[in-house]
Amino acid sequence: MKKKWYVTTPIYYVTAKPHLGSLYSTLLADVIARWQKLQGKEIFFLTGTDEHGQKVAQAAEQAGKKPKEFVDGFIGAYQDAWHKYGIDYTYFIRTTDKDHVKAVQQWIIELQKKGDIYKGTYTGWYCTPCETFVPEEKGAQPPCPTCGRPTIHVEEETYFFKLSAYQDRLLQFYQEHPEFITPKERINEVISFVKEGLRDLSISRTTVSWGIPFPNDPRHVVYVWADALNNYITAIGYGDPNKKAMFEHWWPADTQVIGKDIVRFHAVYWPAFLMATGLSMPRQLLVHGWIKVDKQKMSKSLGNVVDPIELYDKYGADPVRYYLMRHMAITHDGDFSIEHLERTIESDLANDLGNLLNRMLQLAAKHNLLLIKAPEIWPSTAVSLRDECITMIHDVQDYMDDYLFHMALARIGVFTNSVNAYFHNQAPWKLVKTDQQAFIAVMSAVCHSLRVIAITLWPIMPYKMAELLDTIGSAIDMRNNTIENLELDIWNKNFMIKIAQEPLFKKPEPQEELGQQPSVPTVAEIKKVEGDLIDIADFAKVHLVVGTILSCNEIPNSDKLLLLEVNCGQHGKRQILSGIKKYFKPEDLVGKQGVFVLNLKPRKMAGLESQGMMLLAQDNDDIPQRVTVAELVPDGTILK
Ligand code: MSP
Repeated sequence: MKKKWYVTTPIYYVTAKPHLGSLYSTLLADVIARWQKLQGKEIFFLTGTDEHGQKVAQAAEQAGKKPKEFVDGFIGAYQDAWHKYGIDYTYFIRTTDKDHVKAVQQWIIELQKKGDIYKGTYTGWYCTPCETFVPEEKGAQPPCPTCGRPTIHVEEETYFFKLSAYQDRLLQFYQEHPEFITPKERINEVISFVKEGLRDLSISRTTVSWGIPFPNDPRHVVYVWADALNNYITAIGYGDPNKKAMFEHWWPADTQVIGKDIVRFHAVYWPAFLMATGLSMPRQLLVHGWIKVDKQKMSKSLGNVVDPIELYDKYGADPVRYYLMRHMAITHDGDFSIEHLERTIESDLANDLGNLLNRMLQLAAKHNLLLIKAPEIWPSTAVSLRDECITMIHDVQDYMDDYLFHMALARIGVFTNSVNAYFHNQAPWKLVKTDQQAFIAVMSAVCHSLRVIAITLWPIMPYKMAELLDTIGSAIDMRNNTIENLELDIWNKNFMIKIAQEPLFKKPEPQEELGQQPSVPTVAEIKKVEGDLIDIADFAKVHLVVGTILSCNEIPNSDKLLLLEVNCGQHGKRQILSGIKKYFKPEDLVGKQGVFVLNLKPRKMAGLESQGMMLLAQDNDDIPQRVTVAELVPDGTILK
């Protein structure tokens, strides 16, 4: 088993301060690094800034500044944002760093020696925002294939890299390493692009001066992507004889996080560059979708950019980290909204997890139980909870290793609900009066569970989970494989409780002021609106209960239905079909509580039986909202 993990982020164009999209890429890498660290791995986490090229030069000119002065002005904002969000990077590379510049020049010389570079003329089109050459098609001006914006015509002397010579080796590599790109579906796009035929790649510019001078031909600067991609090797010592051991220790990278817009650069050009250099391939590219606001990609030109620092000031680092990881599935684009963020903080963090901790702490404080000792023999209910906890750790391990962070969080959410239900059902506030031993066993089981929840959530919420662990007198020992130890743990820990804490998560303050309130109507007015009124006995015919959605799946051939498996506590599990596919992603529902009608006549839809109905709040064509209760209650709780 390898003991190191080298993880990288894309390096960001410094034309503005970081936005939520840049935070998202960086956060994914941080979560991966922390997850590996929990498993005892030594980490190198690289991030940084991409500072050369036409795009940056133009932005500097518009700001009336020299490029270097312009980019220098943003570095503080990047580093400050990353520190505020707990991004624990090992090294922050800038492509204007002397070491990087020197190593890129050496790399060019190396490739020239090997005969992989030749001089010619590039005639075609260029997309400056994406810094991409777009080949000429029958003389017409093509839009940029990545961003769709108009391209500009360029004709200039250039040095070409013999990319076409690597076509077969690349195809063979993809075939032998289908795991190279995750999600795996993305490799197909790459394979078809390469199969269409690769043209040699222009790797120098003469009409741009803001870049690394081309060795022995200073009229040219290195094309910004040939400069930038190499950051992944120059940062760990490539080209520096004094850092050979360091380079060999860290290369190849284990996970390279990238957005879906830069797959071609990383899955085609980058491996070809590495093949030409004689270096091994990165183990895996992790490709993520975009954060959208109002269904559009966030961008400066659309004016819909979300400032991570404003979010930090209002909600703090960890709730935002949690939200981004819980709701943006790596495989999809995700919509960001403040309302959704606030709802998530309130339901998942303040209500589900925060309340569990608070209730346990308050009860311990009330009865002066500061040292909670593990019982010699665990009651069977606690043993079941521990078994469930171990299954949860296994599931979380699988999800995290597959970068399915949203699923891992949903799974931890399901377990948190089980612990809440256990606490509620055991009623330790009653046990304390009748059976002291049983009372302590419940408190100890909750502490053991909270410890596991906090450790598995630590990669996502490092600050809050360290705080939670501290509150119960625990901490993470990074020298070991903490996850493996958690699985083997026999629940024999003692916990020292700290009392008089602020709540771990605060509920966001309500945003809007209430408008004018409607007046109280008369019975006649109600009848006019509602029609015939019903008796309480009629209402009681409808059996409503709270349940947790254990799984949620799409149904082949149905564009409306989702198939839910719902835990309804003492009423058992139910299979429920709901026509909400248009509005919800399955992973957004798993682990959530809802309100369900249990005594509806079963109905067959799409060949499957639906054994109930999920209640939704929806006006006309609005997006429906799941109905739930104000505080977490055990599954199966009746609504009356
Ligand atoms: N400089 C290049 C990368 C060079 S890597 C050798 C670049 N920079 S960028 O600043 O434009 O984008 C960097 C990363 O941020 C990309 O992975 C991109 O997908 C990501 N994001 C930019 N906007 C985004 C969203 N709205 N949502 C999620 N990520 C997005 O490309």
